Amino acid sequence: MTGRRADGYHLLDSLVVFADAADGIEALPGAQLSLAVDGPEAGALEAEPDNLVLRAARALSAAAGVPPSAALALHKVLPVASGIGGGSADAAAALRALDALWGLGWPDARLAEVALSLGADVPVCVASRPARMSGVGEMLAPAPSLPRFGMVLVNPRVALPTPAVFRARDGAFSQPAVLPDGWEDAAAMASDLAALRNDLEPAAMVLCPAVAAALAALRDLPGCLLARMSGSGATCFAIFDQPGDARRAATALPAVWWRWGGGLHGTPG
Ligand code: C5P
Repeated sequence: MTGRRADGYHLLDSLVVFADAADGIEALPGAQLSLAVDGPEAGALEAEPDNLVLRAARALSAAAGVPPSAALALHKVLPVASGIGGGSADAAAALRALDALWGLGWPDARLAEVALSLGADVPVCVASRPARMSGVGEMLAPAPSLPRFGMVLVNPRVALPTPAVFRARDGAFSQPAVLPDGWEDAAAMASDLAALRNDLEPAAMVLCPAVAAALAALRDLPGCLLARMSGSGATCFAIFDQPGDARRAATALPAVWWRWGGGLHGTPG
């Protein structure tokens, strides 16, 4: 994190990648706007009337001047409020699906404007490509070229609201990281990233001590090259040499936690 804007939002310097773990979004024609939610992580959303997917639909309908009519279905696989951008990705996917359903054909840049009004990290999810993210989330540059690597995600099943973690943040701001143009392999990437930190990690650990337990469990996994908290937590990630190594390693984590292992979206598994 590199500073703070006058409106209180924090200026970020983040590397964003897209793991091959995803919720599902479907948009079908409907007389009015509706949302059905199912899937293993749907429970936590039932109590939330103002789902980000519905907000995305209303925002796009208002911006495009079309009636907000669609039957949306969300299959929730990623834990809610877990710092891996699941809700932001759902909102971005809803924008894309509705852009197609309503025949808008908007370019990414126009969708990104609506996306930013929904949340700081929704634009990067519209782009859906590895990115170096700055500003409050709206400034996107290509990420260094990434090697094939494996990733484990683990969430200790504590929902951590993003604003609370930002509020609890303390300490000096960091300088933007200096990164190479790319990495040959996972070990080289992990060693460069090990020199950096997630400035929200200490605050998240105070609010949720289980973050420390999750990080310790990841570091104990054979083949773990680096373990860090993701975003504002409480999900933590670990980097492995290959997607298969990550898949196998994830099964050794406590089954009471949400856990996933694999590779990046769009890369060979
Ligand atoms: O924009 P989004 O809804 O994702 O952000 C949730 C909250 O996280 C904001 O209200 C703000 O408190 C905090 N935040 C921040 N700086 C950012 C992104 C989010 O302070 N760059």
